[in-house]
Amino acid sequence: MFSIQFPLRIGSTHSHHKEHHSCHSKTGSQKRNRKIIMAATINDTTNQEYDRSKEVRQFDDSKIGVKGLIDSGITSIPKFFIHSAETLSDLKPKRSSRLPDSESNLIPTIDISGLEDSNRRSAVVDKVGRACREFGFFQVVNHGVPLEVLDRTIGAIKGFHELPTEEKMRWYRREMGTGVSFLSNVDLFHSKAASWRDTLQMTLGPNLPELEEIPGVCRDELVDWNQYAKQLGEVLMELLCEGLGLNAGKLKDLTFLDARTMAAHYYPYCPQPDLTVGIMSHTDPGVLTVLLQDQIGGLQVKHGEDWVDVKPVPGAIVINVGDILQILSNNEYKSNEHRVLANGCQEPRISIAIFFNPLKRDNLFGPFPELISPEKPAVYREFVYTDYIKRFFTKELDGKSLTNYYKL
Ligand code: OGA
Ligand code: NI
Repeated sequence: MFSIQFPLRIGSTHSHHKEHHSCHSKTGSQKRNRKIIMAATINDTTNQEYDRSKEVRQFDDSKIGVKGLIDSGITSIPKFFIHSAETLSDLKPKRSSRLPDSESNLIPTIDISGLEDSNRRSAVVDKVGRACREFGFFQVVNHGVPLEVLDRTIGAIKGFHELPTEEKMRWYRREMGTGVSFLSNVDLFHSKAASWRDTLQMTLGPNLPELEEIPGVCRDELVDWNQYAKQLGEVLMELLCEGLGLNAGKLKDLTFLDARTMAAHYYPYCPQPDLTVGIMSHTDPGVLTVLLQDQIGGLQVKHGEDWVDVKPVPGAIVINVGDILQILSNNEYKSNEHRVLANGCQEPRISIAIFFNPLKRDNLFGPFPELISPEKPAVYREFVYTDYIKRFFTKELDGKSLTNYYKL
Protein backbone atom coordinates (compact mmCIF):
# COMPACT_ATOMS: atom_id res chain seq x y z
CA MET A 1 0.00 0.00 0.00
CA PHE A 2 2.80 2.39 0.84
CA SER A 3 5.21 3.09 -1.93
CA ILE A 4 7.88 5.39 -0.58
CA GLN A 5 11.31 4.00 -1.22
CA PHE A 6 13.96 4.44 1.36
CA PRO A 7 17.09 5.17 -0.61
CA LEU A 8 19.17 6.19 2.32
CA ARG A 9 20.29 3.45 4.65
CA ILE A 10 22.92 4.75 6.94
CA GLY A 11 24.20 3.45 10.18
CA SER A 12 23.21 0.30 11.90
CA THR A 13 19.75 -0.35 13.21
CA HIS A 14 19.60 1.41 16.49
CA SER A 15 19.58 -0.83 19.50
CA HIS A 16 16.32 -0.50 21.32
CA HIS A 17 16.19 0.62 24.87
CA LYS A 18 13.59 -1.10 26.92
CA GLU A 19 13.61 1.00 30.07
CA HIS A 20 11.39 4.08 29.93
CA HIS A 21 13.30 6.60 31.90
CA SER A 22 16.70 6.46 30.31
CA CYS A 23 15.74 6.47 26.67
CA HIS A 24 17.31 9.85 26.08
CA SER A 25 20.51 9.28 27.97
CA LYS A 26 23.10 11.90 27.16
CA THR A 27 26.03 9.52 26.88
CA GLY A 28 24.20 7.55 24.24
CA SER A 29 23.65 10.52 22.02
CA GLN A 30 27.22 11.70 22.46
CA LYS A 31 28.56 8.39 21.28
CA ARG A 32 26.34 8.48 18.26
CA ASN A 33 27.24 11.99 17.28
CA ARG A 34 29.97 11.20 14.76
CA LYS A 35 27.66 9.00 12.81
CA ILE A 36 25.05 11.78 12.69
CA ILE A 37 27.35 14.32 11.10
CA MET A 38 28.40 11.79 8.51
CA ALA A 39 24.85 10.88 7.68
CA ALA A 40 23.74 14.46 7.33
CA THR A 41 26.63 15.23 5.02
CA ILE A 42 25.73 12.35 2.79
CA ASN A 43 22.18 13.58 2.81
CA ASP A 44 23.22 17.03 1.60
CA THR A 45 25.36 15.97 -1.29
CA THR A 46 24.13 12.74 -2.84
CA ASN A 47 21.27 11.61 -4.93
CA GLN A 48 20.54 14.56 -7.17
CA GLU A 49 17.39 13.02 -8.57
CA TYR A 50 15.79 12.51 -5.18
CA ASP A 51 12.37 14.09 -5.54
CA ARG A 52 11.74 15.28 -2.03
CA SER A 53 8.46 17.04 -2.61
CA LYS A 54 7.06 13.96 -4.32
CA GLU A 55 8.05 11.72 -1.41
CA VAL A 56 6.55 14.15 1.07
CA ARG A 57 3.34 14.35 -0.94
CA GLN A 58 3.15 10.57 -1.17
CA PHE A 59 3.61 10.27 2.55
CA ASP A 60 0.85 12.79 3.18
CA ASP A 61 -1.44 11.14 0.63
CA SER A 62 -0.91 7.77 2.27
CA LYS A 63 -2.50 9.18 5.47
CA ILE A 64 -0.73 6.59 7.56
CA GLY A 65 1.49 8.94 9.56
CA VAL A 66 4.83 7.93 11.06
CA LYS A 67 3.04 5.32 13.14
CA GLY A 68 2.01 3.71 9.87
CA LEU A 69 5.60 3.80 8.61
CA ILE A 70 6.80 1.97 11.69
CA ASP A 71 3.96 -0.52 11.45
CA SER A 72 5.00 -1.22 7.86
CA GLY A 73 8.26 -2.57 9.24
CA ILE A 74 10.80 0.02 8.15
CA THR A 75 14.17 -0.10 9.90
CA SER A 76 15.54 3.21 8.64
CA ILE A 77 13.72 6.48 8.28
CA PRO A 78 12.78 8.00 4.91
CA LYS A 79 15.22 10.65 3.79
CA PHE A 80 12.85 13.57 4.14
CA PHE A 81 12.86 13.04 7.92
CA ILE A 82 16.60 13.56 8.19
CA HIS A 83 17.47 16.93 9.67
CA SER A 84 20.39 19.20 8.85
CA ALA A 85 23.81 18.56 10.32
CA GLU A 86 23.37 21.74 12.32
CA THR A 87 20.15 20.56 13.95
CA LEU A 88 21.51 17.08 14.57
CA SER A 89 24.77 18.17 16.15
CA ASP A 90 22.76 20.35 18.53
CA LEU A 91 20.94 17.26 19.82
CA LYS A 92 23.94 16.38 21.94
CA PRO A 93 24.59 18.23 25.20
CA LYS A 94 27.13 21.04 24.95
CA ARG A 95 28.67 21.01 28.36
CA SER A 96 29.02 17.26 28.68
CA SER A 97 31.56 17.53 31.46
CA ARG A 98 28.91 18.83 33.81
CA LEU A 99 27.45 16.52 36.38
CA PRO A 100 24.23 15.35 34.78
CA ASP A 101 22.35 15.78 38.06
CA SER A 102 23.22 19.43 38.48
CA GLU A 103 21.08 20.22 35.46
CA SER A 104 18.63 17.43 35.66
CA ASN A 105 15.84 19.14 37.55
CA LEU A 106 16.20 22.77 36.70
CA ILE A 107 12.60 23.27 35.60
CA PRO A 108 10.66 23.97 38.80
CA THR A 109 7.75 21.88 39.95
CA ILE A 110 5.31 24.03 41.87
CA ASP A 111 2.62 22.89 44.29
CA ILE A 112 -0.35 25.14 43.57
CA SER A 113 -2.69 23.94 46.31
CA GLY A 114 -4.04 26.20 49.05
CA LEU A 115 -4.30 29.38 46.99
CA GLU A 116 -7.18 30.66 49.17
CA ASP A 117 -4.60 31.37 51.84
CA SER A 118 -3.06 34.73 50.98
CA ASN A 119 0.43 33.96 52.32
CA ARG A 120 0.53 30.72 50.47
CA ARG A 121 -0.80 32.41 47.36
CA SER A 122 1.87 35.06 47.29
CA ALA A 123 4.56 32.40 47.73
CA VAL A 124 3.15 30.49 44.75
CA VAL A 125 2.86 33.68 42.67
CA ASP A 126 6.48 34.37 43.44
CA LYS A 127 7.58 30.92 42.28
CA VAL A 128 5.48 31.07 39.15
CA GLY A 129 6.79 34.54 38.32
CA ARG A 130 10.38 33.43 38.77
CA ALA A 131 9.91 30.31 36.65
CA CYS A 132 8.35 32.39 33.86
CA ARG A 133 11.17 34.92 33.95
CA GLU A 134 13.94 32.37 33.93
CA PHE A 135 12.63 29.44 31.87
CA GLY A 136 9.14 30.24 30.67
CA PHE A 137 8.42 26.68 31.81
CA PHE A 138 7.31 25.01 35.03
CA GLN A 139 5.31 22.01 36.17
CA VAL A 140 2.39 22.10 38.56
CA VAL A 141 1.33 19.49 41.09
CA ASN A 142 -1.66 19.45 43.45
CA HIS A 143 -3.50 21.28 40.72
CA GLY A 144 -6.89 19.86 41.56
CA VAL A 145 -7.25 17.69 38.46
CA PRO A 146 -7.82 14.09 39.56
CA LEU A 147 -4.87 11.96 38.52
CA GLU A 148 -7.14 9.41 36.87
CA VAL A 149 -8.38 12.16 34.55
CA LEU A 150 -4.78 12.71 33.40
CA ASP A 151 -4.19 9.00 32.89
CA ARG A 152 -7.48 8.46 31.11
CA THR A 153 -6.83 11.36 28.77
CA ILE A 154 -3.37 10.11 27.83
CA GLY A 155 -4.75 6.58 27.44
CA ALA A 156 -7.56 7.78 25.18
CA ILE A 157 -5.13 9.65 22.90
CA LYS A 158 -2.95 6.56 22.72
CA GLY A 159 -6.11 4.66 21.82
CA PHE A 160 -6.86 7.04 18.98
CA HIS A 161 -3.38 6.85 17.47
CA GLU A 162 -3.43 3.08 17.79
CA LEU A 163 -6.73 2.62 15.98
CA PRO A 164 -6.45 0.46 12.87
CA THR A 165 -4.85 2.68 10.22
CA GLU A 166 -7.84 2.39 7.87
CA GLU A 167 -10.13 3.74 10.54
CA LYS A 168 -7.83 6.51 11.77
CA MET A 169 -7.26 7.77 8.21
CA ARG A 170 -10.83 9.01 8.05
CA TRP A 171 -9.73 12.01 10.15
CA TYR A 172 -6.60 12.70 8.12
CA ARG A 173 -6.78 16.26 6.81
CA ARG A 174 -4.76 19.47 6.93
CA GLU A 175 -7.72 21.81 7.17
CA MET A 176 -9.41 22.24 10.52
CA GLY A 177 -12.86 22.63 8.90
CA THR A 178 -14.74 20.33 11.28
CA GLY A 179 -12.58 21.18 14.25
CA VAL A 180 -10.91 17.75 14.28
CA SER A 181 -8.00 16.60 12.20
CA PHE A 182 -5.42 13.86 12.34
CA LEU A 183 -2.17 14.53 10.52
CA SER A 184 1.56 14.05 10.60
CA ASN A 185 3.63 17.25 10.94
CA VAL A 186 1.49 20.40 10.91
CA ASP A 187 4.30 22.10 9.00
CA LEU A 188 5.04 19.18 6.64
CA PHE A 189 4.94 21.40 3.56
CA HIS A 190 6.79 24.32 5.14
CA SER A 191 9.67 22.57 6.84
CA LYS A 192 13.07 21.58 5.53
CA ALA A 193 12.85 18.21 7.25
CA ALA A 194 9.92 16.28 8.69
CA SER A 195 9.71 15.17 12.32
CA TRP A 196 8.85 11.84 13.87
CA ARG A 197 5.36 12.42 15.24
CA ASP A 198 1.67 12.27 14.42
CA THR A 199 -0.93 14.62 15.83
CA LEU A 200 -4.64 14.75 16.53
CA GLN A 201 -5.72 18.39 16.46
CA MET A 202 -8.98 19.70 17.82
CA THR A 203 -10.61 23.05 18.45
CA LEU A 204 -11.73 23.14 22.08
CA GLY A 205 -13.03 26.64 22.51
CA PRO A 206 -15.12 28.66 22.38
CA ASN A 207 -16.98 25.48 21.40
CA LEU A 208 -16.09 21.87 20.98
CA PRO A 209 -16.77 20.33 17.58
CA GLU A 210 -20.05 18.45 17.18
CA LEU A 211 -19.71 15.42 19.43
CA GLU A 212 -20.01 13.00 16.52
CA GLU A 213 -17.00 14.67 14.88
CA ILE A 214 -14.80 13.67 17.82
CA PRO A 215 -13.39 10.16 17.49
CA GLY A 216 -15.39 7.87 19.80
CA VAL A 217 -12.27 6.31 21.28
CA CYS A 218 -11.28 9.59 22.98
CA ARG A 219 -14.55 11.58 22.97
CA ASP A 220 -15.61 11.44 26.63
CA GLU A 221 -12.07 11.84 27.85
CA LEU A 222 -11.39 14.94 25.75
CA VAL A 223 -14.71 16.52 26.72
CA ASP A 224 -13.73 16.05 30.38
CA TRP A 225 -10.13 17.13 30.01
CA ASN A 226 -11.20 20.27 28.19
CA GLN A 227 -13.26 21.32 31.22
CA TYR A 228 -10.49 20.69 33.69
CA ALA A 229 -7.88 22.33 31.47
CA LYS A 230 -10.00 25.45 31.13
CA GLN A 231 -10.39 25.68 34.92
CA LEU A 232 -6.69 25.16 35.40
CA GLY A 233 -5.99 27.74 32.70
CA GLU A 234 -8.03 30.29 34.62
CA VAL A 235 -6.13 29.69 37.86
CA LEU A 236 -2.81 29.91 36.03
CA MET A 237 -3.72 33.10 34.21
CA GLU A 238 -4.49 34.70 37.56
CA LEU A 239 -1.16 33.62 38.98
CA LEU A 240 0.66 34.80 35.86
CA CYS A 241 -1.01 38.22 36.08
CA GLU A 242 -0.27 38.55 39.76
CA GLY A 243 3.35 37.61 39.07
CA LEU A 244 3.55 40.71 36.89
CA GLY A 245 1.91 42.86 39.55
CA LEU A 246 -1.30 43.13 37.51
CA ASN A 247 -4.94 42.51 38.37
CA ALA A 248 -5.65 38.80 38.42
CA GLY A 249 -8.38 39.04 35.79
CA LYS A 250 -6.38 40.81 33.06
CA LEU A 251 -5.70 37.87 30.79
CA LYS A 252 -9.17 36.45 31.18
CA ASP A 253 -10.62 39.84 30.26
CA LEU A 254 -8.63 39.73 27.04
CA THR A 255 -10.54 36.49 26.19
CA PHE A 256 -7.48 34.24 26.47
CA LEU A 257 -9.46 31.52 28.20
CA ASP A 258 -11.93 31.23 25.38
CA ALA A 259 -10.14 30.14 22.22
CA ARG A 260 -8.38 26.90 22.98
CA THR A 261 -6.89 24.41 20.58
CA MET A 262 -5.45 20.99 21.28
CA ALA A 263 -2.55 19.15 19.66
CA ALA A 264 -2.42 15.55 20.93
CA HIS A 265 0.86 14.05 19.80
CA TYR A 266 2.02 10.49 19.32
CA TYR A 267 5.78 9.97 19.07
CA PRO A 268 6.21 6.37 17.98
CA TYR A 269 9.44 4.44 18.25
CA CYS A 270 12.00 5.90 15.86
CA PRO A 271 14.63 3.48 14.52
CA GLN A 272 17.16 6.30 13.97
CA PRO A 273 16.53 8.87 16.70
CA ASP A 274 19.84 10.59 16.00
CA LEU A 275 18.85 11.59 12.48
CA THR A 276 15.57 13.33 13.20
CA VAL A 277 13.56 14.96 15.98
CA GLY A 278 10.12 14.49 17.52
CA ILE A 279 9.27 18.16 17.24
CA MET A 280 11.64 20.82 15.99
CA SER A 281 12.72 23.59 18.29
CA HIS A 282 9.99 26.26 18.42
CA THR A 283 8.11 28.63 20.67
CA ASP A 284 4.36 28.38 21.23
CA PRO A 285 2.15 31.03 19.69
CA GLY A 286 -0.56 31.72 22.24
CA VAL A 287 -0.51 33.18 25.71
CA LEU A 288 -0.06 29.94 27.62
CA THR A 289 0.26 26.19 26.96
CA VAL A 290 -0.95 23.42 29.27
CA LEU A 291 0.74 20.14 28.44
CA LEU A 292 0.14 16.61 29.63
CA GLN A 293 2.97 14.20 29.03
CA ASP A 294 3.41 10.55 29.85
CA GLN A 295 6.48 9.14 31.58
CA ILE A 296 8.70 8.53 28.53
CA GLY A 297 10.48 11.91 28.40
CA GLY A 298 12.16 13.75 25.54
CA LEU A 299 10.81 17.29 25.97
CA GLN A 300 13.65 19.80 26.33
CA VAL A 301 13.83 23.53 26.93
CA LYS A 302 16.57 25.89 25.87
CA HIS A 303 18.58 27.33 28.70
CA GLY A 304 21.49 29.46 27.58
CA GLU A 305 23.45 27.30 25.17
CA ASP A 306 22.09 24.10 26.69
CA TRP A 307 18.93 22.08 26.49
CA VAL A 308 17.42 20.97 29.76
CA ASP A 309 14.96 18.13 30.15
CA VAL A 310 11.43 18.69 31.30
CA LYS A 311 11.50 15.45 33.25
CA PRO A 312 8.20 13.64 33.55
CA VAL A 313 6.91 14.04 37.10
CA PRO A 314 4.03 11.67 37.90
CA GLY A 315 0.78 13.60 38.24
CA ALA A 316 2.33 16.89 37.11
CA ILE A 317 1.13 19.15 34.31
CA VAL A 318 3.66 21.15 32.28
CA ILE A 319 2.96 24.85 31.76
CA ASN A 320 4.73 27.21 29.43
CA VAL A 321 4.58 30.83 28.38
CA GLY A 322 3.70 31.55 24.75
CA ASP A 323 4.82 34.36 22.45
CA ILE A 324 1.80 36.53 23.14
CA LEU A 325 2.46 36.53 26.87
CA GLN A 326 6.10 37.40 26.29
CA ILE A 327 4.90 40.37 24.27
CA LEU A 328 2.16 41.40 26.73
CA SER A 329 4.61 41.18 29.60
CA ASN A 330 7.08 43.34 27.66
CA ASN A 331 9.73 40.62 27.89
CA GLU A 332 9.32 40.00 31.63
CA TYR A 333 8.16 36.46 30.92
CA LYS A 334 9.96 34.29 28.43
CA SER A 335 8.39 32.33 25.60
CA ASN A 336 11.14 29.80 25.49
CA GLU A 337 12.33 27.55 22.71
CA HIS A 338 11.59 23.90 23.26
CA ARG A 339 11.75 20.67 21.29
CA VAL A 340 11.13 16.96 21.64
CA LEU A 341 13.79 14.40 20.78
CA ALA A 342 12.81 11.57 18.48
CA ASN A 343 11.66 8.67 20.60
CA GLY A 344 14.19 5.84 20.73
CA CYS A 345 12.07 3.74 23.11
CA GLN A 346 9.95 0.91 21.84
CA GLU A 347 7.12 2.43 23.85
CA PRO A 348 5.40 5.39 22.11
CA ARG A 349 5.40 8.79 23.82
CA ILE A 350 2.11 10.65 24.18
CA SER A 351 1.69 14.33 24.97
CA ILE A 352 -1.33 16.60 24.78
CA ALA A 353 -0.86 20.33 24.42
CA ILE A 354 -3.64 22.87 24.89
CA PHE A 355 -2.89 26.33 23.54
CA PHE A 356 -4.76 29.31 24.94
CA ASN A 357 -5.38 31.97 22.32
CA PRO A 358 -7.48 35.13 22.27
CA LEU A 359 -11.05 34.78 21.08
CA LYS A 360 -11.12 38.45 20.08
CA ARG A 361 -8.52 38.16 17.35
CA ASP A 362 -9.03 41.59 15.87
CA ASN A 363 -8.21 43.43 19.06
CA LEU A 364 -4.85 45.14 19.26
CA PHE A 365 -2.32 43.35 21.43
CA GLY A 366 0.88 44.85 22.78
CA PRO A 367 2.79 45.27 26.02
CA PHE A 368 0.54 46.05 29.02
CA PRO A 369 0.66 49.84 29.61
CA GLU A 370 1.14 49.13 33.34
CA LEU A 371 4.48 47.52 32.55
CA ILE A 372 5.81 50.36 30.46
CA SER A 373 7.84 53.15 32.02
CA PRO A 374 10.67 55.46 31.00
CA GLU A 375 13.06 52.85 32.44
CA LYS A 376 11.28 50.02 30.66
CA PRO A 377 10.00 51.32 27.34
CA ALA A 378 7.78 49.11 25.18
CA VAL A 379 9.80 46.48 23.36
CA TYR A 380 6.99 45.58 20.96
CA ARG A 381 4.54 47.42 18.80
CA GLU A 382 0.84 46.59 18.81
CA PHE A 383 -0.59 44.07 16.37
CA VAL A 384 -3.75 42.13 15.67
CA TYR A 385 -3.75 38.44 16.44
CA THR A 386 -5.14 37.49 13.03
CA ASP A 387 -1.97 38.82 11.43
CA TYR A 388 0.21 37.03 13.93
CA ILE A 389 -1.40 33.60 13.57
CA LYS A 390 -1.33 33.78 9.80
CA ARG A 391 2.41 34.30 9.96
CA PHE A 392 2.76 31.46 12.44
CA PHE A 393 1.07 28.87 10.26
CA THR A 394 2.86 29.72 7.06
CA LYS A 395 6.29 29.21 8.50
CA GLU A 396 8.16 26.20 9.69
CA LEU A 397 8.34 25.42 13.39
CA ASP A 398 11.98 26.31 13.48
CA GLY A 399 12.75 28.07 16.68
CA LYS A 400 12.71 31.51 15.13
CA SER A 401 10.11 33.08 17.30
CA LEU A 402 7.70 35.54 15.75
CA THR A 403 8.18 37.89 18.64
CA ASN A 404 11.12 39.43 16.76
CA TYR A 405 8.80 40.44 13.98
CA TYR A 406 6.89 42.76 16.31
CA LYS A 407 9.95 44.18 18.01
CA LEU A 408 10.22 47.94 17.89
C1 OGA B 1 3.82 21.61 21.12
C2 OGA B 1 4.90 21.04 21.95
C3 OGA B 1 5.72 19.28 23.34
C4 OGA B 1 5.49 17.84 23.60
O1 OGA B 1 2.90 20.87 20.76
O2 OGA B 1 3.89 22.82 20.83
O3 OGA B 1 5.85 21.73 22.21
O4 OGA B 1 5.97 17.36 24.63
N1 OGA B 1 4.78 19.79 22.41
O5 OGA B 1 4.85 17.18 22.79
NI1 NI C 1 5.38 23.78 21.86
